Amino acid sequence: MPELGLPQRQATDTLMLTGFWYRALPADRVHRNRLHKATLLEIPLVIGRDARNQPFALRDACPHRGMPLNDGKFDGENLECPYHGWQFDVHNGQCQLIPSLTSDQTLKVDRIYAGSYPCEEQDGFIWVYIPDPGPPGAGFTEPSEAPDAAPQIEKFTDKYKLAYLQAEMPVSIDHGIIGLMDPAHGPFVHQAWWWRTQHSIHEKKKNFEPIPNGFRMSAHTPSSNSAPYKLLRLYADADSITTTIDFVLPNVRTEIIRAGKYWFSSLTTVTPITRNQCRIDVVAAWNIFRWMPFGPELLKFVFAKFVEQDRRTMEVQAEGLQHNPHLMLIDDADRPAKWYFQLKAAYLEAKRTGAPMKHPMSGPVTLKWRS
Ligand code: FES
Ligand SMILES: [Fe+2]
Repeated sequence: MPELGLPQRQATDTLMLTGFWYRALPADRVHRNRLHKATLLEIPLVIGRDARNQPFALRDACPHRGMPLNDGKFDGENLECPYHGWQFDVHNGQCQLIPSLTSDQTLKVDRIYAGSYPCEEQDGFIWVYIPDPGPPGAGFTEPSEAPDAAPQIEKFTDKYKLAYLQAEMPVSIDHGIIGLMDPAHGPFVHQAWWWRTQHSIHEKKKNFEPIPNGFRMSAHTPSSNSAPYKLLRLYADADSITTTIDFVLPNVRTEIIRAGKYWFSSLTTVTPITRNQCRIDVVAAWNIFRWMPFGPELLKFVFAKFVEQDRRTMEVQAEGLQHNPHLMLIDDADRPAKWYFQLKAAYLEAKRTGAPMKHPMSGPVTLKWRS
């Protein structure tokens, strides 16, 4: 038991959770009749679009002798391995042809599968579902089905703008995520005259509540010390602006800001690429400033600046983490990080035992910190 009042020592485990959808590539980078490489959870993938523009994702390794398939020939329907010409249906990975077979050989070609993953296009991204690892003997199994659809950005009107930006971080998924939800780094990492300064640091009190697979910072009025929110208040002519921020496993942070008829919504993910590398993708949709020619650019500028500040910080942090230092999480500022680790552990435990997941929070909690 940790002594009372002492911060808890904490080690990150860098475990990457399977059984979830992950963002693989921005949709506008995936072109028809071209093959793209991507890596998710250390799994090499080849991603493309078929003749009807439908995206697909295959494991980038031929089930015959492991040749990367991204080097193969693709006719819009089947992908041909460059080594011995085996052909696979890109949507389910089923083998269609083994050119070396003679007519009297009876190998059942259609029982052979290249690894194939459920794949969806959603809000400007190609999402890939990474199932739990199957039994050994892959290469002969049909693809798993995703239990649900890929996450979507919540939108409140038919007309809106959409933008994304991304940055690679040389840290594990755990550090990427706890960095994303860390409330105390703002005044030190995200200073700018038009946003806030270190001097604007003040005490905050926020309510949190459990939600399935995660937690929510309950609807509240955003901090008064930030200029954009002040601007938004004038522009929207609304007495109250409310923000709701959710985090759900494995890696999704959604933020919804509503001000009268105006709204801003974002879905940010931190995607594990390898054990030591993750990527942050911010996709935002909004109907504020839609008529203003520089609106989207302005928003993108603000977000790009934030993300770059976070990326730079984690790049430097990665140097410190190389030597496996002991880490600690303190209350209340690091409580969301603690919840993340507890949620992750609870998810894995539920998988192990087959019992329903036990949520680490028993009810609403108020956290206080200065930022
Ligand atoms: S390695 Fe792919 S066909 Fe042989
Ligand atoms: Fe940040």
